[in-house]
Order: sequence, then C-alpha cells, then structure tokens
Amino acid sequence: MKSQDVRKQFLDFFQSKGHVIVPSAPIVLKDDPTLMFNNSGMAQFKEYFLGNGTPKSKRIADTQKCLRVSGKHNDLEEVGIDTYHHTMFEMLGNWSFGDYFKKEAINWAWELLTEVYKIDKDILYVTVFEGSEEENVPFDQEAYDIWKTLISEDRILLGNKKDNFWEMGDQGPCGPCSEIHVDIRSAEEKAQVSGKDLVNNDHPHVVEIWNNVFMEFNRKADGSLEKLPAQHVDTGMGFERLCMVLQNVQSNYDTDVFTPLINKIESITGAKYTIKAKDEDEEKINIAIRVIADHVRAVAFAIADGQLPSNTGAGYVIRRILRRAIRYGFTFLNTKEAFIYKLVETLSNQMGDSFPEIVSQKNLVMNVIKEEESSFLRTLDQGLQLLENVIKATEGKIVSGQKAFELYDTFGFPIDLTALILRERGLDLDEAGFERAMFEQKTRSRAASEVSTEDWIVLIPGNVETFVGYDKNENDVKITRYRKIDSKKEGVLYQIVLDNTPFYPEGGGQVGDKGILISANESVAIIDTKKENNLILHFAKNLPENVSGTFTAKVDTKLRTDSSRNHSATHLMHQALRTLLGTHVEQKGSLVSPDYLRFDFSHFSKVTDAELRQVEDFVNARIQEQLPLIERRDIPFAQAVEEGAMALFGEKYGDHVRAIKFGDSMELCGGIHVKNTADIWHFKITSESAVAAGIRRIEAITSDAVKEHFASHEHLLHEIKAALKNPQDTLKAVVSLQEENTKLTKQIEGLMKDKVKNMKAALVSEIQEVNGIQFLAKQVDLNPEGAKDLAYELGNLGTNVFLVLATAEEGKPMLTCYVSKELVAERSLNAGNVVRELGKYIQGGGGGQPFFATAGGKNIDGIAEALQKAIDFIQ
Ligand code: ALA
Repeated sequence: MKSQDVRKQFLDFFQSKGHVIVPSAPIVLKDDPTLMFNNSGMAQFKEYFLGNGTPKSKRIADTQKCLRVSGKHNDLEEVGIDTYHHTMFEMLGNWSFGDYFKKEAINWAWELLTEVYKIDKDILYVTVFEGSEEENVPFDQEAYDIWKTLISEDRILLGNKKDNFWEMGDQGPCGPCSEIHVDIRSAEEKAQVSGKDLVNNDHPHVVEIWNNVFMEFNRKADGSLEKLPAQHVDTGMGFERLCMVLQNVQSNYDTDVFTPLINKIESITGAKYTIKAKDEDEEKINIAIRVIADHVRAVAFAIADGQLPSNTGAGYVIRRILRRAIRYGFTFLNTKEAFIYKLVETLSNQMGDSFPEIVSQKNLVMNVIKEEESSFLRTLDQGLQLLENVIKATEGKIVSGQKAFELYDTFGFPIDLTALILRERGLDLDEAGFERAMFEQKTRSRAASEVSTEDWIVLIPGNVETFVGYDKNENDVKITRYRKIDSKKEGVLYQIVLDNTPFYPEGGGQVGDKGILISANESVAIIDTKKENNLILHFAKNLPENVSGTFTAKVDTKLRTDSSRNHSATHLMHQALRTLLGTHVEQKGSLVSPDYLRFDFSHFSKVTDAELRQVEDFVNARIQEQLPLIERRDIPFAQAVEEGAMALFGEKYGDHVRAIKFGDSMELCGGIHVKNTADIWHFKITSESAVAAGIRRIEAITSDAVKEHFASHEHLLHEIKAALKNPQDTLKAVVSLQEENTKLTKQIEGLMKDKVKNMKAALVSEIQEVNGIQFLAKQVDLNPEGAKDLAYELGNLGTNVFLVLATAEEGKPMLTCYVSKELVAERSLNAGNVVRELGKYIQGGGGGQPFFATAGGKNIDGIAEALQKAIDFIQ
C-alpha cells in the first residue's frame, strides 16, 4: 500500500465515524509560548481540553506535521542512528472533545488496524496503564476490559507512568494511555525471544505505532493533578512506522516515504545505501544518508511554514538540524559543496498533494537551504584551519576541552568532528573539559532565561473571554483568572485574563496593546497583551487590590492608532510589491508597532531605489484615494479566498475568518486597521535590506513619524543653508564649494613642494656627521606629507642618512623618521623602533618600516625632548 493511500484510508475511516477532517497546523507554533514546535497532534487543540475554547466539532481527525527536537520530547540524537525515530514525522490522530471515550477509541483503533489495514492480530501487542500510587491514579481497568474483548490477554501488557501516562509538557492536559505495538521480526527471532519482552525496549522491530491517550487530568505548576471538566480522547499514530508495517519492510527508511529521497542522495553523492550494512563503514554511510533524508524534511517544512534558520529560538533549532545533516554529508559522504537543497524538488513531488505549502514555497526553501549550506561549509573550512592551529599549539597528546568548546561555540564547529579529526591524528580530546565548559555555558544561559509560572487563580470558572477591540477602545470588565510569572529577565509579572477585552493581543505582526485597568479606587497599568492559545493575557507589574471588582479596561488609543496606521499601510505595501515586483512576493514576516513597520518578503534581488519610489507612490496614491475600510468579520475561509483574499503560509486559519479590504487590497487579518486609508496620512520607506537568501526587508513609517522625518530633514537643510550663508541655490553652492576645495588642494600641494625644496636647500648645511652617520633632528614648519617629502629629499643626499623630523600641524605633534637602507642593513638602525621609542615623549605611538616610520601623539610640549633624545641616541 502506497503511503499516500495509508494516509487517505486513515482520514476516510475517521470521517466515516463522524469526524471532521482538518488540515495539519503549521509546524511552527505562533501563539503558544510554552512550545516552540508542534510536537504532537493535540498541541493545536490543547485549550479545548482545558475548557478554554470550543472546537468546531466534538470529533476531529487529521495528519499533523510534528517536530520532536526540543523540550520534553526530544529525539534528535537518535535520528539516523536508528531506523524509527525522526525529527519531522506525521502523526495521524483522532480526537474526541468531551464526546466518545475509551470504548469507541479502542474499538475503532482495532477495527482500522485489523480490518481496514488488515494487519495480522498476531503481530500486535497493547499496553494499559498499571496505575500509580504516587499520582493517586488507579490501574486502568476499563481499558483492560475493553481490550480483553478484542485480543488475547497475554498480549495485553501493563505499563508504568513513564510509558503509559502521556503528558505534553511539564504542565497541561494529560492522562493514562494505551499503546499499540507491532512485532515485525522473523519467526525465528520470535521463537527465541517473545515480543512481550521487547515492547518498550528500544527494539527496532518491536515498536509502538499508536498511542491512545485518555485525557482526564491537568498537571498543575506544583506537580499535582486535577480532574479536567470533561473527558477526552487524544490519539497519535506514527505514519512512517505504520507505512513500514504495511509495506512489509524493516525500517521506516525503506518505505516510499523515504526511498525517493534516499535514491536522490545516492545519485548526487555516489554513496550507496545498504539495507543491511555489512560493516561499520557501510553503517556510517547508512546513518549519514538517513540523517540527511530525515533532516531535509524537517528543515524544508519549517521554512515553508515561515521559520527561517537564525541564531535564536526556533530558527536556531532549524539551523542546528540542517547543520547536523551538512556535517554528516561532509564527513561520511565527502560532500564539500551544497547539495541538500536539491532534495527539495523530490520532497515536493512526493508530499505536495497532501501538503501544498511545500510546492508553493519550493523556490524559497531551496534558496534558503542552499545559502545555509554554503555558509556552513565555509565555517567548516575555517574551523578546520583553526583546529590545525589548536593542534599545533598542543603540547602532549591531549587537546584542551576549553579550546574545542570555543571552536564549537563561536564557529559552530561540531564537537564530534573535532573528536574524529583528533583521533585520526592520534590525539585525544579532553572530553571532561569540554563538558565542563558546555555545562557552565548552559547554566549561564538557563539562569538568564528562566521563567517560573504559577497556577491560575480562577475567579470566574468556565468563562470564554471575548475580544471586543474591533469596536471599542474601552469596556467594563471583570477579572476571570490571573497568575504570577517570574522571569530572570523581566522580574515578577502578572498575567490577567478578563471576561471580555478591548486589548488587542500581539499577533499578525502587530504588537499588543498597552493601557490601564481602572476602577473608582485604583488603576493598574497594562504593559503588554499577548495571546496564549485561546486566552488573551494582559501583563501587569502588579495586581489590583480588589481582584473581584469591576474595572474599565482602557486601551492607550494614541499608540493603537499609530499601530493601526502602520498595519493598514503594510497591507497596501504588500499589494504594491506584488503589483510592481510580481506575485512571487510573499510575506515572510512582519512587525507593526506604533513607531514603524517592518515587512519581510520573498524577492530575489535588491529592490532598486526607483522601485522603492514606485512602491511609495503606489501606497500614497491609495491613501489619497481615501479608500474606506471594508471589514468582513466572519466569512467562510473558502469564500474569502475565492474573493481574492490573501492567506499566508504558516498561518493557522479557522473555518471562518476576518478579511480586511481597502480597494483591491484584501487580506485575511485579525489586526486593527484605520477606518479610511486617508488616516494613514503619508507613507515613507526608510530602508531596504536583505535578511536571508531570497528574503528582503523593508522598513517604513507613516503619519506623525513621516511628519517628524520631514521636519528633521528640513531642519538639517536649513542648517546647511545657514552654514553656506543662505545661497539662492543650495545644491549649486555645495557643488561649487567642492570644486573650489579641489582647486585649492592642488594649489597647496604645489606650494608645499616649493616649500620643501627651499627648506631642503636651507637644511643641508645643518646636517651633521656623527659616528659616520649624516644626522639631523629638527622641528619643521610643514604638514606631515610635507615632512615625508622633505625626509625623502634629504635622504637622497647620501647612503648614511638618519633623520628625525618633528611637525606640529594644527597642534598635533608628529615624528617622522628616515633611515638610509644601508644603515638599516649595516648598523641595524630601525626607523620603526626609533619612532616607537621617541613617540613616548609626545604621548603617542606609531610605526612603519625599518627605513621610514611615523608616530603621532598628543603632547606638543614633548617635541623638544624627543628631538634631544634622538641626538643623544646618535651620539
Ligand atoms: N498525544 C499523544 C502522543 O503524542 C497521542 O503520543
């Protein structure tokens, strides 16, 4: 069965059981600060389990792109080494939100596996939670009894908290689970060791394929469990492992999910993937090929969903995954040039039907990966040289762990590569020293970013917060819940949730509103507003004394108005860029603040000055047209897209969306906008630059900021005019000033030459012969260039000349030393050393060559002493 059909049959099956099929959420999470990446199918539904929102259906199923490379679930180091862990994988899932529970979930899982996919019952094992006294959760008798009706009891195994109690993170919804495992070993192997003993024991051919979680609890910050308001089902089946079983192979990498990628890697690198490696060298090549085939998927999908590699946060995780792949290629497949980007084509052909983003973003993804590869290969090159230096400086056989850590930390040079090279050279790495340095750095950065979050104090349970900010800037509100957070960076803050709120939470690029909560007796400043899943969190430095009072929530309208101008201008600029540069332009990031707007987009060359002017003109024309805002607050997604609304990749949209229209510009957007484009007043681009391969950034301002921009430029011009004594034509005045300057400079050069000649004639007689050296030390009234010319002129008089000339142009003392080449060679005189030594008397320093050097200083009074020292020295 082809992988495409495996996926389809899963979704068809659950549709037939009344589930609504939804698309995968983006792999990078936007409004969940507790998770960097989607690490399980349920992440996007988390708030439904907690009762903070209502799903569109009580039964949902999908296939979700997941990434387990950070946080509680992190598989990165296993990937490629074994044959059944991945960075990105698809999780097939079905959910019940307060609807069906264990009986249906277990029976359907069994029906799908054994009747639809026709997996032989005799290769399946199931596990049930054995209970935990510590958690006060009993043995899952109910699940056990249901399984008993389907499978013989010797195939039902009991599992402990580690394996059979599922939690997404340190806090949040969780519950006992029941897993389904397959045993795909040969009959001989089975005869030797029973599958029972290998379940949950890291055997490559006895693996978990499906986890059915029965969500009943919420794990609180203090570690205790509380019962959820309703019971839910959350399941996740590993798509790649399921394909392995159905395609009758022994490794995920031998399924058609991976073989096209592996074939392509083989054809590019000339390496050969062997299903069963016969020795260690072959296995190393296998591992490298698996690492690359796996990692390219994670990186490509993350970039397609809008996450570019970078130096911080999620971007850094993506960069590290890609670098791991590059490094395996570099060391084991001998790839010294970028090639991973070439696999994106294969991936897009293969996955494009189910995940169209990989097709539409293909060019961008390829460009970004190629650029990253090339620059990391350069780093590796550089790192190899630096490592050479470290090796050279090493006495004995042990290379410093601290030095290896510096290479790793500052240049991204992988430690395993360092260790490998050292081994090849017969040297050892001080691994303990490396670990120590690593540990110290981690401790430092963890301490800097630590945040502790307390449990919610719920004042009004069950309330679903409504956002009223599209219509109102202030409203009467009550606090429904609050909690305290303590971060090393920002200190103690409170997150406050209201029954309704006019405050716009940071999102869609627009920053969160600021303002106040005010009652008759007290007021609390709201310093920021953010969204976490379905909650709008108002951040405050303190709580009101009477938390259960009624307050007026007031948004700071000045800031909000400025943001709304920049937001509407962003839409118009987006339209301008697509109209003027082409529809390849896609939004890749945006920041809308009261002060300015920043917009990142795909485009493959610099936007020229002329194009930038056109963009400004386009936007300003729309402003002049005074286009009214047409807001469609709640239209079906499909209809909005049909009408031409622009949807962004990597954004998660509901079935019903909000569309913002100004003339022909129409975007899906949740932000705050002006009522009429005239309110933007004027639009001005302030900069254009590159952010990554194929991604440009424009920054711009509107309204008051433009007024300030023009006012400050006008002021500057005014000052320039005044300095030029208010000419009729300022530009002409500046140009003629420059021309005059050039002319005068030439004249001065000529005069200076004459002066040098005259001086030379006068000074020849002052040269003394001391110890066989023609010697002069003297202050001259010349500029430094003049002194240099004079030194060379006098130097030409003989082959044993030694000169120290001092100048003091514009109060700056300077020493110039000339030594005939012969003296340098025969008497070991060195002009550089001379000026360094004499420079001390004028509080300065300098250098140059043995026959000519200069030193500048600060102390003009020291000249006489410096010259006297020169004389003493020669005598
Ligand atoms: N959320 C469960 C898991 O990821 C299904 O295993």
